[in-house]
Amino acid sequence: MKNVVILGSTGSIGTSTLDVVRNLNHKYKVVALSANSQWELLSKQVNEFKPEHVSLADERCVDSLRNSLSDNSVQILTGEDSVREMVSQENVDIVLSAIVGGAGLPAAIEVIKNGKTLALANKEALVMAGGLIMPMAKEHGVNIIPVDSEHSAVLQALRAGRRDEVKKIIITASGGPFRNHPKEKLSEVTREEALNHPTWNMGNKITIDSATLMNKALEVIEAKWLFGLDASQIEVVIHPESIIHSLVEFCDGSVIAQMGLPDMKVPIQFALTYPDRENGNVKSLDLAELGTLNFQKPDMDKFPALRLGYEVVEKGGTMGATFNAANEVAVQEFLDNKIKFTDITKAVEHVMKEHNFIKDPTLQDIMDADEYARKETKICLS
Ligand SMILES: NC(=O)c1ccc[n+]([C@@H]2O[C@H](COP(=O)([O-])OP(=O)(O)OC[C@H]3O[C@@H](n4cnc5c(N)ncnc54)[C@H](OP(=O)(O)O)[C@@H]3O)[C@@H](O)[C@H]2O)c1
Repeated sequence: MKNVVILGSTGSIGTSTLDVVRNLNHKYKVVALSANSQWELLSKQVNEFKPEHVSLADERCVDSLRNSLSDNSVQILTGEDSVREMVSQENVDIVLSAIVGGAGLPAAIEVIKNGKTLALANKEALVMAGGLIMPMAKEHGVNIIPVDSEHSAVLQALRAGRRDEVKKIIITASGGPFRNHPKEKLSEVTREEALNHPTWNMGNKITIDSATLMNKALEVIEAKWLFGLDASQIEVVIHPESIIHSLVEFCDGSVIAQMGLPDMKVPIQFALTYPDRENGNVKSLDLAELGTLNFQKPDMDKFPALRLGYEVVEKGGTMGATFNAANEVAVQEFLDNKIKFTDITKAVEHVMKEHNFIKDPTLQDIMDADEYARKETKICLS
């Protein structure tokens, strides 16, 4: 029996993680859950999984949660120290972080400092501070297991050889809903069109990131930190069917792909059971039924976000935090119908150019870059 904490349990990844835990049938026990404000769903999760601790980032929702619970034994936490309180418990084996955005960075750091295995869906934490997080994980002997399907695929494919035999990795991208949309019409696309992802059903922020290809840029940066690669070793290919989740090319020319139907339960379960595998509750892949798989080069002129992602990989320092924060603010403005779709990437590029770059930042420098980028993005979009 392994004890698991799920941060962001009310989101798309969080609820899929609870599905996986249900299917793993008593091999995993949920000892803590967290959310931002969705207390009603959290309350249902608490009643079913009976964790010891539960936390809500939004303090205004705590009373509603407390009044809704039938069991008084669960400890309800809020405020800055709540994640530390949950992940520092001696019985915790693994923490799956599915918080969305930069809000997940302090949580990731707490998990690492407490020496717990980190199953990481919250790629933004690595994008912001991979240069600090990876050495910190090494120092504390912590394994960071990716939940992102592409990075899970790379982790699985890497098992086919030694690290010094790896030539490059190839990350696949569905291309999002506007893959075949004319470039000059992108500025007119609506929020609803952008939220209509062709292959994956995800939270709003990552769905917009997939439409701009910002998500692929975030993943290229994530791959740099997770696997210790430089920009020339990370390739992106558009693969609309989302059946091959990513590939690793070895020095002898062998290319190992990880495949499966697009279902986040597979990489989530692999992250929980790593390095072992357990029976999964997912449909088998039928290649004959699929018939054809397609691949194309990404169009960086139409989707400049990917080019910006490579710039972040090359520059490092505070560029990741700036890129991420500017994107988060711009995506929210788009979701609020305040800006055009194409303004998202333009704003990110502008803020990356304007910011005061620091090559070897401290955590405080990273938090400052994040704060600056949020303010500057608001200003440039107003
Ligand atoms: N969805 C996918 O298929 C997928 C695939 C790969 C990677 N990821 C990554 O996984 C992460 C989560 O994505 P998602 O699609 O599951 O997002 P989501 O559906 O929006 O869920 C986000 C979760 O984070 C919580 N949260 C939001 N703001 C918070 C804050 N300030 N403090 C604490 N908790 C907060 C939310 O709580 P409330 O519900 O109370 O707001 C919710 O539980 C993202 O980093 C994303 O890039 C997602």
